[in-house]
Amino acid sequence: VETISFARGVPAPECLAVQELAQCAKAVLERDGMRVLNYGPAGGYAPLREWLAERHGVEAGRIVLTNGSLQGLALLAGQLLVDRPTRVLVEGPTYDRLLRIVAGLGAEATAIPLTDEGLDLEALEGELRGGSKPAFLYTIPTFQNPSGRTLPLEARLRLLELARRHGVPVVEDDPYRLVRFEGEPLPTLFELAEGTGVVHAASFSKVLAPGLRVGYFILPAVLSRALEEAATRTYLAPSFLAQATVWEFLSRDLFEVNLERIRALLRERRDAMLSALERDVADGASWSRPEGGYFLWLDLPPAVKAAELVPRAEQAGVTLISGTDFYPGGAGGEAAARLAYSFAAPSRIEEGVARLASLLPTRQPAAPAA
Ligand SMILES: Cc1ncc(COP(=O)(O)O)c(C=O)c1O
Repeated sequence: VETISFARGVPAPECLAVQELAQCAKAVLERDGMRVLNYGPAGGYAPLREWLAERHGVEAGRIVLTNGSLQGLALLAGQLLVDRPTRVLVEGPTYDRLLRIVAGLGAEATAIPLTDEGLDLEALEGELRGGSKPAFLYTIPTFQNPSGRTLPLEARLRLLELARRHGVPVVEDDPYRLVRFEGEPLPTLFELAEGTGVVHAASFSKVLAPGLRVGYFILPAVLSRALEEAATRTYLAPSFLAQATVWEFLSRDLFEVNLERIRALLRERRDAMLSALERDVADGASWSRPEGGYFLWLDLPPAVKAAELVPRAEQAGVTLISGTDFYPGGAGGEAAARLAYSFAAPSRIEEGVARLASLLPTRQPAAPAA
């Protein structure tokens, strides 16, 4: 059987605006080839920096473009942990690759649990009061990877208040915010903090194309210079062709229309996954119901362990990621898994959930009417 992937958070092929991007790439090469084909400023392609600066209401010098946001996160974590490899607060569960970056830098990640509505602020406060001061708090407040959960407005304000009181910088990783299917958009932590105490990371990967490798950061001026220096040391300059292609796409007013298209395609997929879970999956399991983004979080029925389920699922032709991958040292998420609905077609999603359900305890028949 052909494997159905719920494992990787990648956009479905239909999401990628191949023709339009081809035209944009050709246009920038013809018009600005001398610039985009040479080395240039480590902070990125100036017109795109300026476009983003205007959109976010900051000076262009505070925007740094990186080759995907993960590379920027790696450089940034290096800067924030320089000379004091200490600890970092993260959500439990959180983005697994960030955990690997932190571990690679010799720092410890402390996981703060999530509730159904994002970071548990009581637990955060306890950790800030009781533990040693962390170098930063890493959070994905909107359509979180891996849980799909979103932190409500009140909680955003409280989080900022706690971080400020304890003098802890916040790194807000926000690649999914624009992939909203329903509900009211929320202000970012960066917006609520009016640009101080919060570093904002975002990306064109989930809203345009991951292969372009265009991510960006909004930073205080000092940190933006440090990030540019780290970028120069590491790779001299980013890919200007990709950044200029994104800028051309934005300048042609193609972005919003494309975003609507991506939202519709992913919404269909989320709906297919939710209704298939509802229909097929045994009592005792529960799952998040994201209003956007790429993922949902499945809490398995009692007695089912992700470590056993994941390899059996792979044999049955469906891949998913064990919850343990999203906790520091794998300590947590033993009875949970992340399911990405972003990639497979809706009919394949239904089939994938059916395959998964066949490995779970059978649904109890409804009690006969009295
Ligand atoms: C929360 C989060 N941050 C960062 C990234 C990295 O994205 P990119 O490097 O493609 O911009 C991802 C990708 O899955 C992600 O889920």
